[in-house]
Amino acid sequence: MRKTSHSPAIRRCNRINPKARGIAAGLAAAAFVGMAAAESGDDIAQRETAAREVTAAFIQGLGAALKNEMSKDGPAAAISVCKEIALDIAGRLSRTHGWRVTRVGTRVRNPMLGLPDTWEQQVLARFAKRASQGEPLKGMVHSEIVSEPHGRYFRFMQAIGVQELCLTCHGPKEQIPEAVRAALAKHYPADQAIGYRLGELRGAVSIKQPLPKR
Ligand code: HEC
Repeated sequence: MRKTSHSPAIRRCNRINPKARGIAAGLAAAAFVGMAAAESGDDIAQRETAAREVTAAFIQGLGAALKNEMSKDGPAAAISVCKEIALDIAGRLSRTHGWRVTRVGTRVRNPMLGLPDTWEQQVLARFAKRASQGEPLKGMVHSEIVSEPHGRYFRFMQAIGVQELCLTCHGPKEQIPEAVRAALAKHYPADQAIGYRLGELRGAVSIKQPLPKR
């Protein structure tokens, strides 16, 4: 189970990628319908629906690939696959829709990709507060139109909670298998994304859509 070689994982990654492409392409059609209607005005609900659909595809695609990989080659090999597939799916969704689709963390493993910006930090703090008041993380979203110096954007975030599966790589240190710890230390020397508990807020999928000029 705990193979350290990454090569089978990388080969499998090539087989999984077409699936990610399929997900992105399938969603493109749905979202363009939303966008066309969106130009005509009162569109927040429609944008939010489209953003939720894209988020669901992102989370499901990633979760399926992760489970598949962990059961085949073990969690240490799944590190590289999960990283590549997350980027691949997010990149494709971003290009297909003309939105920025990313994952951000309350603490981050990869500071180049996973750091929340100021708005995202504020929303994560609100999510944590909503969760502490008893609201379930599942389906927790926030959307808003924001004005920035370069334009207006529709911004959307959906909370990601820690599931059992995540603990292998994000849980308390003593629960992380040795091979995974070694691989994380090698690839992510500044890793802060461990020590999470089951059901805790891990981060969010974040989507940013440019809006037409007024
Ligand atoms: C096989 C190990 C592994 C498992 C299991 C795993 N992750 Fe990760 N996770 C990673 C790695 C590696 C990164 C850094 C990816 C990168 O380089 O962008 C990461 C990054 C993230 C990020 C982006 C923010 C950051 O810290 O850089 C989020 C959010 C995240 N994981 C959530 C989850 C959730 C939720 C689960 C469970 C469904 C999960 N992860 C399961 C390895 C894993």
